[in-house]
Amino acid sequence: MAEIPVIQVLDKEHYHTQELVSLPDEAPYSPLAPSSIRLRTKVLSLSINNFTYAKLGSLIGWWDVHPLPPSTPAPFNDAAKYGRINAWGFGEILDSTLPSVPAGSYLWGYLPIGTLAQDLEVRDADVQGQVLITSPSRSKTMSIYNRYIVFPPSLRHEIEAKADSVGYDVLVRVMFETAYLIADYAFPANPREAVAAIFNKDAWTAQNADLTGATIIILAPGAKVGLSLANLLKNRGHNAKQVIAATSEYSLDFVKSLPMYDAVVLTSEAPDQILSQFKVGAGDKVVLFDCGGRGDVGRRWSAALAGLSKNFLHIPIGGGDTSEVPAEAILSAFQQPSPEHVKRASASDLREAAIAKDGEQKYFDGLQAAWKAFKQQGIPGFKLRWGEGMEDVKHGWAMIAANKALPSEGLVYQI
Ligand SMILES: NC(=O)c1ccc[n+]([C@@H]2O[C@H](COP(=O)([O-])OP(=O)(O)OC[C@H]3O[C@@H](n4cnc5c(N)ncnc54)[C@H](OP(=O)(O)O)[C@@H]3O)[C@@H](O)[C@H]2O)c1
Repeated sequence: MAEIPVIQVLDKEHYHTQELVSLPDEAPYSPLAPSSIRLRTKVLSLSINNFTYAKLGSLIGWWDVHPLPPSTPAPFNDAAKYGRINAWGFGEILDSTLPSVPAGSYLWGYLPIGTLAQDLEVRDADVQGQVLITSPSRSKTMSIYNRYIVFPPSLRHEIEAKADSVGYDVLVRVMFETAYLIADYAFPANPREAVAAIFNKDAWTAQNADLTGATIIILAPGAKVGLSLANLLKNRGHNAKQVIAATSEYSLDFVKSLPMYDAVVLTSEAPDQILSQFKVGAGDKVVLFDCGGRGDVGRRWSAALAGLSKNFLHIPIGGGDTSEVPAEAILSAFQQPSPEHVKRASASDLREAAIAKDGEQKYFDGLQAAWKAFKQQGIPGFKLRWGEGMEDVKHGWAMIAANKALPSEGLVYQI
């Protein structure tokens, strides 16, 4: 008997509120069009990242990537109020009319949360083993979300065994890639090789990109993207003076156990005291990477550090914590002009610039080598916590919303 698909539906404004909705009328699926795949989410991860998609979803179009299916029952069929959000993971190919991606293989990439399969038009990418979505419904979606890596049917065994390698790919890989783009392309060891026009489409100078002697402060340092960035900034030839983790009390023990930071401070401490403790003068370069610090810590620290250092950059990467913020407030905050020292990072823009500089093959070969090395080492003190089925996903979402997720645990689900 055909599986009855189940999807997670969120209240867009109050995205801590969720519902699992069954869609019996979606099964069985109709025949597949040419050059298409039928993709069903099989493994997915949850982290602060998914809440950022919900929080900034109306601003950046993240609610539109996986719309509510036509048979969604009332009241959840009201797309003004309800929507589906996205997750990184592995999808299984249930059917295919593209020879390079046969049924039974898997795609790693951006997926909906639920067991309902989606039909997508695809073509082979320029680099072998990757495909690009060409469906008109995805034409406005940022390029990073339209590219998928193909895995062979044998991945099934690793998925069934809940292998660490699968969990890391699902939970950490895109965070590591974001960090890799920042470390190797925005702030490369040779600053003259930095890619241009990367943040806010602004010009990006070799002087901006130079971390020689700089003090780097990372907010939400226990975040996957933060600890990956610290690791790369320590190991890829940058000559920064020090990489300091600025954490909340909540993540303190985990962050202290991480080997990639030179020092750990609390975000409850005052930035001026921290600069004097670490002997940072007013002319010294300070770079604040905000990977999703809680409340308004990013804004507060940025304002304080801008007043203390004449050579300061603030790079927002994360979208803040998981608290619900009205879409109007988000929109008006983003409409305010940013000071010159604030340069927002976008993994999608950065990846496009990196590919324009090096070509697909060189870019993805370099990333794969760095990712393989990082994954082999693993994150010390970090454990994957596997769940099964959509009820477990619902539980994981509620746990993060209630501030009960541990930074030392990674939430991954087989559905
Ligand atoms: N700009 C881009 O292109 C790009 C690309 C990838 C990811 N991102 C963003 O980077 C951010 C981090 O993603 P991630 O997957 O690396 O996150 P993660 O691992 O889940 O982050 C965990 C850290 O987030 C902080 N945090 C804030 N609110 C929390 C809560 N309610 N529960 C638990 N921890 C909370 C904690 O740091 P403290 O306790 O120290 O506050 C915690 O150590 C997200 O906002 C994501 O969207 C942006």
